[in-house]
Amino acid sequence: MNAKVIDGKRIAEQTREHVGQAAREFREKTGIVAHLAAVLVGNDPASEVYVRNKEKACEKAGLASTLHRLPATTTQQELLDLVALLNANKDVHGILVQLPLPRHIDSTTVLDAIHPTKDVDAFHPENVGLMLQGRPRFLPCTPAGVMKLLEVTQVPTAGQHAVVIGRSDIVGKPMAALLLQKGVDATVTVCHSRTKNIGAVCREADIIIAALGIPEFVRGEMIKPGAVVIDVGINRVGDKLVGDVHYAEACAVASAITPVPGGVGPMTIAMLLQNTLKAAQSLYNPAG
Ligand code: GUN
Repeated sequence: MNAKVIDGKRIAEQTREHVGQAAREFREKTGIVAHLAAVLVGNDPASEVYVRNKEKACEKAGLASTLHRLPATTTQQELLDLVALLNANKDVHGILVQLPLPRHIDSTTVLDAIHPTKDVDAFHPENVGLMLQGRPRFLPCTPAGVMKLLEVTQVPTAGQHAVVIGRSDIVGKPMAALLLQKGVDATVTVCHSRTKNIGAVCREADIIIAALGIPEFVRGEMIKPGAVVIDVGINRVGDKLVGDVHYAEACAVASAITPVPGGVGPMTIAMLLQNTLKAAQSLYNPAG
């Protein structure tokens, strides 16, 4: 089998165009420009790239964005003070604190301080709870991007066995929750570093979502012929970016696969723009 390549770059572009169009209509109706405030502490090179891409995407879609750059020596209190200012600023609709934060700062404390109605990452426990209960305020960006890829490429999910590899708060856990929701109706297994016979579990999957952060962990023999493989990993190996899936081996067995780069990655930013617009719309009309 030669897997169909799921073109995340193109699907993300289309999604961003839709958001851009909706943002324009909202601005024409209300005079409000949806505005994302991103906070970058220190200068982690990968974070620099992510934040720059987010700014560029906002600009292209006609959303406002401001980047707050703080030195790596920033104290937790200073960061909390900035979050409080952004929470109180009526012109800011979405707040994103780029992770990872320097080690002397407790990420949970900072993320919990973001007002839930501006939490466009959907990391706040209130938003996680709402999502888990199937009444989301915001959908977490990367898992929502994966769902969009499955939907656009018409991958059936009802009754299908989805195996999620990885149990992070950012991807694995919310990914499993979204696949489980009514209407999606997958049967979900979550694997992690302590899972026994992970290869055998993966071979049972109709859909594999690899999000564990180990380069090329998923080999061809772990994939059932005809399965759909979604690779959330972005790993730098030498001067190359590789996913959590061995791409060449997987292509020979899977029916469809996301490439790295150009698969899930671009979708994350598209979903962030969607959440920022949604935040602006609901802050304008809290009951709506
Ligand atoms: N660092 C890596 N991924 C993410 C993400 O989705 N959101 C934030 N805020 N930081 C990240």
